[in-house]
Amino acid sequence: MNSVLITGATSGIGKALVSIYTAKGFEVTATGRDLLKLSELKKHHPSIKVLSFDVSQQKQVLDAAEEVSMLDQLILNAGNCEYMETVNPFDSDLFERVIRTNLLSVGYCLEAFMPKLNPHSQIGIVSSSVTYIPFTQSQAYGASKAGLNYLAQSLSIDLASQNIGVSLIQPGFVETPLTDKNTFDMPAKVTAEYAAKAIFKGMQAKALSIKFPTLFINMLRLMSWLPFGLWRKIAISKVKK
Ligand SMILES: NC(=O)c1ccc[n+]([C@@H]2O[C@H](COP(=O)([O-])OP(=O)(O)OC[C@H]3O[C@@H](n4cnc5c(N)ncnc54)[C@H](OP(=O)(O)O)[C@@H]3O)[C@@H](O)[C@H]2O)c1
Repeated sequence: MNSVLITGATSGIGKALVSIYTAKGFEVTATGRDLLKLSELKKHHPSIKVLSFDVSQQKQVLDAAEEVSMLDQLILNAGNCEYMETVNPFDSDLFERVIRTNLLSVGYCLEAFMPKLNPHSQIGIVSSSVTYIPFTQSQAYGASKAGLNYLAQSLSIDLASQNIGVSLIQPGFVETPLTDKNTFDMPAKVTAEYAAKAIFKGMQAKALSIKFPTLFINMLRLMSWLPFGLWRKIAISKVKK
């Protein structure tokens, strides 16, 4: 039986991934930091194994890995989004928190879980389509996800000789508790189930890049071709005074 470990499995995209991987017959290890949410998840999917740890705490991640058997897929999905209310003064606590949760955590998980990967396995790293263009108030979130882009693509070069694939996953807006907090328009928002389906399909195909929804991604790609000076003027004109 194929096996997968999913971080951030207690909510949103991760939770939807647990449903799809379970339905497809995978042996699923679902991880999160909230015991109550994990036991609820286990109630819905009795066959899964649940593991509790905070992805931003290296020791907790390393300890958890001792309880994990060999894996065919590893999906590093846990993350959080915090927008910066102001940039001057700059909130370096927020910046550190977001970088720790979204970027350093992936380093801890790679250290802990890569030794558990079977040959020909696949790692999925959940970044974001936010990295196509710089958006207002996204300094911390965008920087953390841009870091993941580089990490994932660079890893995929060095892991090729070990037959381990890396999929860089860049969702557009997905309806989850993370985006429920947003007060701005979120064009082309898809459901968590849609996102999980796209990620599952891409992971099975060992795709280097998993991006969705296509129309929205193409629109961002087009905008990213604008000279930065022009995009900056447009973005400044939209910033609420
Ligand atoms: N939703 C979108 O539009 C969107 C778009 C692009 C990328 N993404 C990325 O997709 C991933 C999943 O996001 P989502 O929208 O599904 O959000 P979500 O519903 O808030 O789920 C985030 C998951 O990550 C877990 N998590 C957060 N910090 C953690 C920590 N320190 N240790 C362990 N687990 C932690 C959460 O656990 P708790 O339940 O305990 O908080 C939760 O299970 C994130 O990396 C996000 O950046 C989302």
